[in-house]
Amino acid sequence: MPATSPYEGRRVLPSILAADFARLGEQVSEVLAAGARVIHVDIMDGHFVPPITMGPLAVAAIADTVHDAGGAVEAHLMIERPDRQVEEFIAAGADGITIHVEADPHAYRTMTAVREGGARAGLALNPGTPAEAASALAAIADTVLCMTVNPGWGGQSFIASSPRKLARLREIAPSSALEVDGGIDVDTVGTVASAGASLFVAGTAIFADPDPGAAYRRIAEAGGAD
Ligand code: DX5
Ligand code: ZN
Repeated sequence: MPATSPYEGRRVLPSILAADFARLGEQVSEVLAAGARVIHVDIMDGHFVPPITMGPLAVAAIADTVHDAGGAVEAHLMIERPDRQVEEFIAAGADGITIHVEADPHAYRTMTAVREGGARAGLALNPGTPAEAASALAAIADTVLCMTVNPGWGGQSFIASSPRKLARLREIAPSSALEVDGGIDVDTVGTVASAGASLFVAGTAIFADPDPGAAYRRIAEAGGAD
């Protein structure tokens, strides 16, 4: 384990959903070299959200590269029944597992299992879910993830009312790190940082750029991140 947590302070988290999968390892190495320390992996099951994307194999494929750089892999589970997958994602090398409050009636138990497996427990909220839905789980949420687009696809526009919800989440979950996901770029990262977020997921804004490392640096600078 690295001396400093990769989650400490403000961080931009590259989402590999927008990466070139034929060159996945190379692209992950580029953003790690630019300073990234947490790599975000979007897991979709075709039920909770329409698309099907990746599974534990994708986490395992990048885990060694990320860990060798002192970083962490975070699995964002946009799936029903996430409780059934926790063990497999941890075995694949996930250091953080984020589940959706809308997808799991037993979220407290699932998040406890994530922590008992030695990983960070994250709780994600869809844009239509009020901030208050996090209150009963805030104490066991290492991270609260506020979706700033509706989950399912990269490349969507940032929902403008998100900073207000973030400010409310900051009150509801004072000891959790606040994460944002969707439509984050050089223009939006500043407002979410001011509203209390410290973890900024960015996919398209990094990997659609011909130079993902340079794009990472620009967003990090705009958000006051490392
Ligand atoms: C969307 C995913 C995001 C996605 C963000 O459902 O959870 O992590 O990769 O993509 P951008 O940064 O393109 O909005
Ligand atoms: Zn995500």
